[in-house]
Order: sequence, then structure tokens, then C-alpha cells
Amino acid sequence: MAAADREGKKLQDVVFSIGMAAQQAAAQYGADRVVNATVGCYAGEDGKIACLPLVEKLYRALPIRDFVAYAPPLGLDSYGRAVQEEVFADRRPDLYCETVATAGGTGALHIAVANYAERGERVLVADWRWAVYDSVCEEVGRKVRTFTLLREDGTFHQEAFAEAVHELLQTQDSLVIILNTPAHNPTGFALTYDDWRAVMDVCGEEEKKGKRLSLVVDIAYIAYSGEPHEVRRFMELFKGAGEHLLIMIAFSMSKGYTLYGQRTGALVGLSSSRAVIDEFRELGKYSARTAWSNVNRAAMTLLTNIRRDKTLTAELEAERRAFFDTIMRRAAMFTKEARATGLPMIPYTAGFFISLPHAAPMQVCRRLQARRIFALPVHGGIRLGICSIPERQLPGLAAAIQATATEDR
Ligand SMILES: Cc1ncc(COP(=O)(O)O)c(C=O)c1O
Repeated sequence: MAAADREGKKLQDVVFSIGMAAQQAAAQYGADRVVNATVGCYAGEDGKIACLPLVEKLYRALPIRDFVAYAPPLGLDSYGRAVQEEVFADRRPDLYCETVATAGGTGALHIAVANYAERGERVLVADWRWAVYDSVCEEVGRKVRTFTLLREDGTFHQEAFAEAVHELLQTQDSLVIILNTPAHNPTGFALTYDDWRAVMDVCGEEEKKGKRLSLVVDIAYIAYSGEPHEVRRFMELFKGAGEHLLIMIAFSMSKGYTLYGQRTGALVGLSSSRAVIDEFRELGKYSARTAWSNVNRAAMTLLTNIRRDKTLTAELEAERRAFFDTIMRRAAMFTKEARATGLPMIPYTAGFFISLPHAAPMQVCRRLQARRIFALPVHGGIRLGICSIPERQLPGLAAAIQATATEDR
């Protein structure tokens, strides 16, 4: 029955299928005897998904009309302003700026790709990446081209990035680039200020040649990536962007507000051209209206209420800090044991995930299941959701993975 160009489309959602297997194992053997490292949501030491206490309190207290009323396709104006404050903090570049409310960070990526990548052309993403990027591109008839994210020493592969941009722009007049940083999924890696300078130089060079570039910065995990002022330092570098270099920031309330299922985020556009930003707003409004019409008004109100009150903002920051500290403690425990056992690991700075490079990740993940350890195979290795593994399950985990990973070598 399907239309010709839709036939055979099938989502390969390994996260959910392995997650289901982990849940079945937990039901059979008891949750304490199963390590479920597939989850991409923060869990407390009780192993259960957690909500930031302030978010829970304020969200439950909102009047029912905030949950039932429609919102404008672009989102509430106050939300747009509050999102910009959160995204940039005190690192706001002096550029024209507009916000489109979206159905999570995923919706933001959809709007960026659908409106700025030409049909049939390539979108540049890193080899270590969130697999959903590929589907978002394919859904609207675009493809991905990958570049090698990391050099041998674990630093950002500036040369590979530059080469991929130049190569693609020999055959394309425009290019959409997606960079997920800081607290990259799946590795916990982050570009340094110097890496960002290199990225902006490469993009600027092509822009001067008359190419159109759209740089999408996916900051889904920024709330748990370190000191807010410091982790936003790279945003200052956007100020020099030429007229045909559009910066788009994909913002999400899923992690930063622990509202994963409430589907609220935003795409923030930045440009030195008023005309480019006016167009961004119109395109965003059109895409939003036709894809989901408008997003969760209650979540937008919640964010606005917190951001317009300094005390609440400080309270939220403190609660996030506590989650962040827990994740960092878990990551440090795992890293220490990985080093001691010789388990190779992608350098981790911060974030929900740790990645272990391996040539046959699917095979290792299958074998790990026999030890009741459920991890996710990704391109290039194995992803562990350190955000959700309680500390008591960490001793021995790196050693078990190392033993499994080297079984056949
Ligand atoms: C790298 C990355 N970007 C964006 C998102 C967007 O999430 P959401 O659509 O829930 O806001 C996620 C969620 O897992 C992610 O891992």
C-alpha cells in the first residue's frame, strides 16, 4: 500500500530492542543482577529514571489550561527569549537571532535538515554519532557523509573535518554540518576552543568562496557538560560569521529539564543578515505548523517561569550540578577500572555516555548479554549509558567488558 518512495522504510531502533531485553532480564533475575547500560536518561542511585525536583514541583503546579491550550507554531514569545538566554547565557554573539519551538531536539534537527540541505545532497556528520541523524536525513531525502571525529590521540580531527567540508563543496553549492558538542553522544567528547576556531575558519573560507553553509550545533547535553560559562565559550566565535554562514543551535528540554517525553525543544538561528534570519523564522514556522502544529505549552511555560526568576534559575542549576557530579563520579570510577584492566576507551570529558572502541561491537554486546550486561553497539564501538548505571554496579564492569571484548582475539 505504501507510496513508492516510502516502501521498505524500517527504523532500526537498537536502543529500544536491547533495552527491552534488559528489562526482561531484570524481571527474570532481579534488577540488581542486571546492568542496563542502554538507557539515555539520567537515573539516580536507585536505578530509576529521575526528574529534577524543581521541575517536578513547578510542572505539577501549573494550571490545567497550560496543558490543554494550543500555542503558536513558533512557540510562546517568552519561551523564545528564555531559550536564547539559556542557550547563550553570557556568551551571546552580536548577531540577528530567532527561535522556533520544536518537538524536542529531534524536531530542531528535522527543521534544520529539511530547510537547509538540498534534496539528494549530503549532510556532514561525525563517524561517532547519534544514529538518528542518519534517519532524520533519509526521511527527507538527504544522505549523510561522515568524517573521522578523532585523531589517534583522541583529539578532534581538524584535518579530516576540513577535508570533508572542502570535498563536499566541490560538488555541492551548500552544506549542512551537524556537530554534537559538548558532552557528545556517544563518546562524552567535546571540541576545544581551538577546535572551534578551526571549524569556523574552514566554514568561513568556503563562505568567502560563495558557498552557503549551515552549521547545526546539537547541544542536547550541555546542561551536564561542566561550568556553564566555560562550556559556552565557543559561542563567541560565531560573531565573525559571514552572511552565508547560518548557525543553528538545536536545543532540547529532554535532558536539561528531565522532560524527555514532553517533547519540547527549539532551533535557534543566528546570522549576520537580517534577511537570512527573517527567512529562517518563516521556514521554521511553516515546518512546525505542518509537522506538529505547535509544541507542549506547559513545558514552554515551565522553562519561561524558571528563567525569569533568578532564584529558581539558581535552584535549577544547583540540582543539575548534583546530577552532573553523580555522572562524573560514575564515569571516574569506570575510567579508573578501564585503565587498570587495559580496556580502551574514547577520551571522556562529560556527558551521558562513554564509548569503547571495538571492531565487532554487535558481537561483543551479544556476548555481554550472557553476563547480564546490556550495552549498545554503535558505529565504531560500544556505548555505555553511564548516566543511568548506579555506582554499586560499577565495580567489575570494565573488567567484565574487557574479558568479553578480548575473548576471541
Ligand atoms: C545527540 C542527541 N541530540 C539530540 C537529541 C534529542 O533529543 P530529544 O528529541 O528528546 O530532545 C538526543 C536524544 O537522545 C541526542 O542524543
